[in-house]
Amino acid sequence: MLMSLPVDLTYERFQQLQLRLDMSRGKPSPEQLDLSQALIDEAGEAGHLARDGFDCRNYGLASGLPEARELGAQLLGVPSAQVIAAGNSSLELMHDALTFALLHGVPVCEAGERVNCGAPWRAQGEIAFLCPTPGYDRHFAICEALGVRMIAVPMREDGPDMDRVEALVRDDPSIKGMWCVPLYSNPTGAIWSDEVVRRLAAMPAAPDFRLFWDDAYRFHHLTDEAFATLDVVEACAAAGHAERVLMFASLSKVTFAGGALAWLAAAPHNVTWWQKHAAVRTIGPDKLNQLRHVRLLHERATLTALMARHRALLKPKFDAVDAVFRARLAGVPGVSWNVPRGGYFISLYAPEGCARRTVELAAAAGLILTPAGAAFPYGVDPRDSHLRIAPSFPALDEVRLAAEGIALALLRAIDERRA
Ligand SMILES: Cc1ncc(COP(=O)(O)O)c(C=O)c1O
Repeated sequence: MLMSLPVDLTYERFQQLQLRLDMSRGKPSPEQLDLSQALIDEAGEAGHLARDGFDCRNYGLASGLPEARELGAQLLGVPSAQVIAAGNSSLELMHDALTFALLHGVPVCEAGERVNCGAPWRAQGEIAFLCPTPGYDRHFAICEALGVRMIAVPMREDGPDMDRVEALVRDDPSIKGMWCVPLYSNPTGAIWSDEVVRRLAAMPAAPDFRLFWDDAYRFHHLTDEAFATLDVVEACAAAGHAERVLMFASLSKVTFAGGALAWLAAAPHNVTWWQKHAAVRTIGPDKLNQLRHVRLLHERATLTALMARHRALLKPKFDAVDAVFRARLAGVPGVSWNVPRGGYFISLYAPEGCARRTVELAAAAGLILTPAGAAFPYGVDPRDSHLRIAPSFPALDEVRLAAEGIALALLRAIDERRA
């Protein structure tokens, strides 16, 4: 459906189009999923025997297929002994890590030597996580579900406000962790600077404090420049806090969002800690799927080529949103948006008090947006200003239409407030 819309289109006219568009979740489109169809079509050829003859159909290898750990090591820049390949999604590993820490505590180390296992976090009274905001709603959902208090810290273009982070963790041992999406942050697109990474690695904090380093968009560039953030595992080791970071990544938005594999990478005591607790939970991950992924992707160059094909599908959608916003919203007081250099989201900022109403008006015109406030702890945006736009899933024409609808809904929300 290709529809050209008049420049004088009104909100009411848009409503009359009776569209049904969903821009709420950052899901890959069917065309993106098709790029990895070989995982299914050539599953027979991948077979079931690992490099060393291990039968992947059976139980075992709780830390993952060695070649899947090696692929992770190559892609994440961490030795393979420090990489676990597990699950089909990194979010489940983050959930498990937080659960293990709450129930059992985490290793406490000095100068790289483990001195003991810290007390279970849940036995230490109310504990808290720092949450750079706007941030990823599912991180916040994990905290809420597990009873971890969330402390918002403002996000800047180069990462979280580090003065605030350092001041908070310095004197408060109940702050046990922090959510970090270092590259193309969901949803602001921030690229965390070397200085931010170094300060996070070096800052004084509770001995059992952990950075939950969610490198979800490590491979997801939208420009010719493949941005990268400083190696956090190395930075933490150099700062004498080798165990401070738990790094997570997955192939969800590289191959199949519903059937890929995930990695946890960390310093050795953390890896042993993970292995001990994960072994109670499972007799081993889906190694057949890991084998298929290793056969499909081989190495970094194969992944890079695949990501270029994703970009070719995604970039026009991001450009379309930007073009519509520039045409309809440029110069509107209090309105701004970012042009991300990677990742899956655009953040649109409305004048204070207008975001929730924009989402309502969009819904009334058949457009589903992420609920306003979703990118904030407890779902509350104190300024009611932030909107998360996810242009990846709908077809390009639909994205263009949806962007028009969002802009018209926002302009209507602003008019209503003025009235
Ligand atoms: C920051 C971030 N982390 C994790 C995920 C989910 O990753 P996975 O599919 O590996 O669980 C997403 C998905 O949108 C995300 O934006």
